[in-house]
Amino acid sequence: MKRIAVLTGGGDAPGMNAAVRAVVRQGDALGLEVYGVQQGLLGIFEDQIQPLDLSGVGSILERGGTFLQSSRYEPFFEKEVQQDAVDRLRAKGIDGLVLIGGEGSLNAALCIHQLGLPVVGVPSTIDNDIYGTDMAIGVDTALNTIIRAVDRLRDTASSHTRAFVVEVMGRDCGYLALLAGIAGGAEAVLVPELKYDLNKLAERIRYGYNRGKKHAIIIVAEGITEKHAGQSVADHLIETTGFEVRVTVLGHIQRGGTPTAYDRLLAGRLGAAAVEQLHSGMSGVMVALQADKVDIKNLAQILSQKKTLDPNLVNLANVLSR
Ligand code: F6P
Repeated sequence: MKRIAVLTGGGDAPGMNAAVRAVVRQGDALGLEVYGVQQGLLGIFEDQIQPLDLSGVGSILERGGTFLQSSRYEPFFEKEVQQDAVDRLRAKGIDGLVLIGGEGSLNAALCIHQLGLPVVGVPSTIDNDIYGTDMAIGVDTALNTIIRAVDRLRDTASSHTRAFVVEVMGRDCGYLALLAGIAGGAEAVLVPELKYDLNKLAERIRYGYNRGKKHAIIIVAEGITEKHAGQSVADHLIETTGFEVRVTVLGHIQRGGTPTAYDRLLAGRLGAAAVEQLHSGMSGVMVALQADKVDIKNLAQILSQKKTLDPNLVNLANVLSR
């Protein structure tokens, strides 16, 4: 193996730049040429594949987003398009690929591997919904962004005895909501994976007010309803209780910002490990974090399974939110 490429796909996540930097620097240490593909999978078809050198990835460690840019490229899931991608990469002399992204990108990595081009996936999505890794790159930064917002909202909520519904990202996965609920001291958390009862939620908040609480923070994952999750919870509370309720939708604020030390370290470890794997002849795998150790997982296996919420954390959120 002489020349590898790296690309970032799907929704950006803080720490993607740190991962690209690690790929380039580990590649250089192993005597590989490293190329960067701009705009995710789309860049393969638009011939946006350029060499990256050591200085080309200087001063990006601390930057959020992805300097390579990213895309969600739906046509990629057609077989001919995948073959075209592999042909184009080979024509550029690329004989290995590191694909950094979430579930969609890892699925693309598996398709490329099945067509014979060596690929290693690196999990990076703020959702933390990828089976087989304890953490994905970007999750920690997004959680810190959420709890900073929650702390501020509690200040204003307490000043007016208000309830705030805070909508966070997570279409199918309530990890961010649950962890932010625990770390941010929320009174309640609603996630797509678990049934909820809005009347019981109202009772719980009333119970808190009756005990002298001056605020209520309810964190909801965007995926609990098809649309406007936060607003629909707030509307129900207003109609049935008369509480003063405000809604904050954090939206893409959660995706930006300088990565935390945790995300930079994780990105460095996983990015470097991905290149080591490719260099040693591995393909069709994802580098993962398990029990604080870098581990190697079979892509087909991890993509066939769904990550679930840890019941101990669900229980802890219930206990601590009293
Ligand atoms: O998968 C990451 C994520 O941020 C989800 O949490 C969110 O539902 C989605 O991407 C938003 O996608 P887009 O940036 O395309 O609006």
